[in-house]
Amino acid sequence: MIVSPSILSADFANLGRDMTMLENSDAAWIHCDVMDGVFVPNISFGFNIIKTVGQYTSKPLDVHLMIVDPGRYVGQVRDSGAAIMNVHYEACTHLHRVVQDIHNSGMKAGVTLNPATPVSMLQDIIGDLELVLLMSVNPGFGGQSFIEHTVKKISELRALVDATGSEALIEVDGGINARTGARCATAGADVLVAGNAVFKASDPCAAIAELAAL
Ligand code: DX5
Ligand code: ZN
Repeated sequence: MIVSPSILSADFANLGRDMTMLENSDAAWIHCDVMDGVFVPNISFGFNIIKTVGQYTSKPLDVHLMIVDPGRYVGQVRDSGAAIMNVHYEACTHLHRVVQDIHNSGMKAGVTLNPATPVSMLQDIIGDLELVLLMSVNPGFGGQSFIEHTVKKISELRALVDATGSEALIEVDGGINARTGARCATAGADVLVAGNAVFKASDPCAAIAELAAL
């Protein structure tokens, strides 16, 4: 399992220390949550922080943009060092164009679905994606409870990916711990995001290793 710890739950006063921990852990990617206070009811951090985080890691930055009209920021996301740019389906009027722009800037493209958005909305874009990020909570905050209905969506997405020959990885974000993560793995997830389950654990490295072994 690819594990992408979310630094939203890191200790911002000790971000360098937490990044060193991640660097020495089984984490494969680093998940960066950008929130604008409009698309979601919370504000997190922006491109300067992502750029700084990138200086502390050799691992790919998996950037999740919870902002309106994310297509306006493709250049800035690339310049901040992102390897993967995740945009919300619900935030893009011209999703196909945004995905093209992401590819033209040299990044991998991910599309994110809110809990109420059906997997079938991806039918005509799935072949162009390297990643689909399924939200298993309503985006905006760490530490929320996993929405059970997500498991069914993972199975549906697995079927869509396999039927179309898409190379998209299936990533799940929100309320992931060893128990909910195991259910996602069984349903067909490739990547798990975890915030609280990592950074609030007494041994964060062990928590990451447990998820990576799923
Ligand atoms: C939620 C963010 C998540 C969040 C996950 O809006 O997209 O990435 O950090 O945190 P946990 O794992 O605590 O639910
Ligand atoms: Zn996220």
